Amino acid sequence: MRNDLPSGARGVRIIGTGSAVPEGRLTNADFARMMDTTDEWIKQRTGISERRILDLRTQGCSTLARLALERALEASGVKAEELDLIIVGTVTGEMTCPSVAARIAGEIGAKNAAAFDLGAACCGFLYSLNIGESIVRAGRARTVAVIGADAMSSIIDYTDRSVSILFGDAAGCAILRSDDDPSVGCIYQHMGADGSGWHALYIPRREADVPVEDSANPIRLGCLRMNGKEVFRFAVTKFKEVLEDAFAKTGLTPDDVSQVVCHQSNIRIIDSAREKLNIDPSKIFVNIDYYGNSSAGSVGLCLDQLSRAGKITPGKPFMLVAFGGGLTWASSVWKT
Ligand code: UT7
Repeated sequence: MRNDLPSGARGVRIIGTGSAVPEGRLTNADFARMMDTTDEWIKQRTGISERRILDLRTQGCSTLARLALERALEASGVKAEELDLIIVGTVTGEMTCPSVAARIAGEIGAKNAAAFDLGAACCGFLYSLNIGESIVRAGRARTVAVIGADAMSSIIDYTDRSVSILFGDAAGCAILRSDDDPSVGCIYQHMGADGSGWHALYIPRREADVPVEDSANPIRLGCLRMNGKEVFRFAVTKFKEVLEDAFAKTGLTPDDVSQVVCHQSNIRIIDSAREKLNIDPSKIFVNIDYYGNSSAGSVGLCLDQLSRAGKITPGKPFMLVAFGGGLTWASSVWKT
């Protein structure tokens, strides 16, 4: 972080993005061989055909976070030493200390950067983006890398069919840079949490943290426990609410934005919000069929794929939306 910059409202640009997924694939046919499920059930209930899975013997969350960061630096023409701050949204870092952010900062030679991880589950990338943007806008940093990365395969109990089929591993990164035009950047952001619903999605490390009503749950300690129906209900309602709020507060309509980049939770959740708000399917990118739900990795991965495909139209606003464990939710609307 820096003290040599003029403070005050600055503009912020996303000057480059990057993403990373592992080479290993876990298909619905693989699951059908491992447990009592079918390709048809998984596709129909979730929209997922396959997910990317790390080789956890030699790789982890930081492998993907670092790759996504290196690709974003390359795309933006920024050198590692120019970074003032690295934020990694994750719930699956290999170690709690060091943070993934500090570890990869050291690996790539980002010697002028502050670095920390942020835990907001599937909202990890959006919380990091909103916080990183605010720091650059306030003039406290010139160049910030925000990353969402999760190695979900490291916290999945692959004997549980109702949870394991949803998740994959991925990371996405955006490089934020200060701009003289204060009108560019995030024009609206919202972040929220409702901790009273945490037991719908959690990763207990000790018995003491398991709620009594969930004590019969056979999923191992250290693995993700999820009440799918409860999360589904929350997500369908919250996704719609967060989108409505972002459109209302900015005065934008779905026609005004080039893309709504949304967390890839379940195709039925995405379709439900899209239909209720009458958003054209071409404006809501979906890649869940190939990557599953990659938690904090998903929104950054989508943003990078859209950017590289030229779908984030310069001069047109775009919107990002996520919701997940915590329970948390977030939106971010950008003027480019
Ligand atoms: O990023 C946020 C993270 N989480 C989410 O977004 C998850 C939101 N929830 C969901 O996506 C859905 O709840 C799931 C896909 C996880 C489950 O779908 P569902 O339609 O809610 O199924 P269910 O849990 O109500 O289960 C219905 C039936 C049950 O059988 P019975 O009791 O009706 O006989 C389950 O045992 O489907 C069974 N089932 C399966 N059958 C075949 C559950 N998982 C499977 C499976 N294959 N993989």
